[in-house]
Order: sequence, then structure tokens, then C-alpha cells
Amino acid sequence: MIIVPASSSLDLAARVAKDMGATLAEVDKKRFPDGEMYVRINSELKNSEVAVIGNNRSDEDFVELLLLLNASKEGGAAKVTAVLPYFGYSRQHMIYKPGEPVSSKVMTKSLENFSDRIICVEIHDEETLGFASHPFVNLSVINTSSEFFRNKGVDLILSPDDGGYERAKKMGEILSIPAYYINKKRIDSKTVEMHLPDVDFSGRSVLLVDDIISTGGTIIKAVNLLKSSGVSKVSVSAVHGIFAKDSDSKIKPLVDLLAVSDTIEGAHSLISISGDISRALAGDV
Ligand code: R5P
Repeated sequence: MIIVPASSSLDLAARVAKDMGATLAEVDKKRFPDGEMYVRINSELKNSEVAVIGNNRSDEDFVELLLLLNASKEGGAAKVTAVLPYFGYSRQHMIYKPGEPVSSKVMTKSLENFSDRIICVEIHDEETLGFASHPFVNLSVINTSSEFFRNKGVDLILSPDDGGYERAKKMGEILSIPAYYINKKRIDSKTVEMHLPDVDFSGRSVLLVDDIISTGGTIIKAVNLLKSSGVSKVSVSAVHGIFAKDSDSKIKPLVDLLAVSDTIEGAHSLISISGDISRALAGDV
């Protein structure tokens, strides 16, 4: 197996290569004078199984990923897997208003053109998997996320909404602690009220978990609500830490621990999902 790292996942790709005892390919990346992107994989790929690891978090990341996948195929790889630790554009998996594209279908079909298999991690909406005609695997990293919090003294797990309760519940089962969710009540098109469940939070160490932190709005509201309930400690975790508009700088001072995974690499990527990806690449899932 040869691991080809895209710029968005350099650390994660190196970890996966190490876990698997695989070769980490060298990649050159630069810009042509007109601004277009140039990539070159400086490793022999002929007849090898290749995994390109990178996400489509930005449009630039996506172009790089497609170029690397094509370079792998053109280089004679026997099998090419596109590994997207964060599969972007998956929120637009259906047409909400006439005239819109189905963005996640565009991503899936484009990736399929240059790969034999797609692996992603905790995609926002699993309907995207249905657009694929090649194997498309969505990995759950709940075990890895839960194990990170073992022995960190968490008393209970809380989801910021009922949609995320399944995740909180599964983590609670793994860690043998109770899980609850915050009730959201829509007052009007602009106002949503959040209500804590009927639980005694005073003196407890609470872990707030979500699948994704994007603008941070949901988590910040939940943290502020929790803080008025007498908790002793608040930890925040999510699989994907997008932290749009530097929202991590607003969340961090409010909490005792902020830990997201390395699906999107950043300062708070304390949980590595490299083992999950290595096992999937080795065919265990
Ligand atoms: C909602 O469906 C998700 O689970 C997250 O709660 C949401 O996407 C987080 O977004 P933001 O950080 O912008 O509030």
C-alpha cells in the first residue's frame, strides 16, 4: 500500500502510513504562473494499491484531491482509494430550492471518475452514499472518540440536540455513563430556545458531543446553558472541527477541554482516527 498525502491531511496520512507499515509518497505541489495548481507524485506507483488521503473542505482541496487521484491512476496504480476524512458539500445532498445542484452527488461522481473506492468518516448525511456506483464506505469513529475520554473523569454525556442523541448514547454505553440531550424549541424563524434535560448537573463533569462544529453557534449556546446549571467541568468534542470564523477562539476559553478529531487538522485535533482509516484500508470494515 502506498499512501499519497494531500495538503489538507499531511499529519493524518503520515500516521496512517506508519500504522500500516506503508510507504508515504512524496508529493510536489506548486502553482503554474497563471495560478493553476500543479501536483506530482514522486514515487513509483505501478501495480501498487494506492490510497490518496485528503478532504474537500475547500474548493482548492478538492481540485488537489482530484489531481492526485488522477496522477495515481495515470501512474499505473492497480487500485486507487480516495480517503476523505471530511467529506464536504454533503449538506447539499438534495434540492431544497429549484435551480440548485445536488452538490454531494457532484463530489461523489467526480471522485468516482478517478478512484475505485471511496472511504469517508462520519459523513453529514448518509444519503450521499447512494449516489455512488463503486464501493463507498462511511466509517464511524465513535469507539475512538469514546476511548479518548476514558479516564478523563466525565460523569455524563450531553448532545446539543435530539439529532445527535444516538452518538451521545453510544458513547455513554461505551464509557458506562449516562447520556442525555438538550431540547430545542423553535420559537420563530430566527429564535430557537434550548432547554436542559431534567438532570442534576451540579458538581458534574459534562462532555458535550456533536458530529461537527461549524460556526460554533450550537456548541457555544449549549456550553453557556450548561454553565448556568452548576457543572464543575465542561468538555467539548466533535468528530469534525471546522471552526468557521475562528469560532474555536470563542469556544476554547469557555471550556475545560476542547478535543476534535484529525479529520480536519488543526490545533484542537487531539483525537486521531488514523487507526480507523488503517483498518478500513486493510479491508477490515
Ligand atoms: C446539526 O445538524 C449538526 O449536528 C451540528 O450541530 C451543526 O451543524 C453545528 O453547526 P454550528 O457549529 O454552525 O452551530
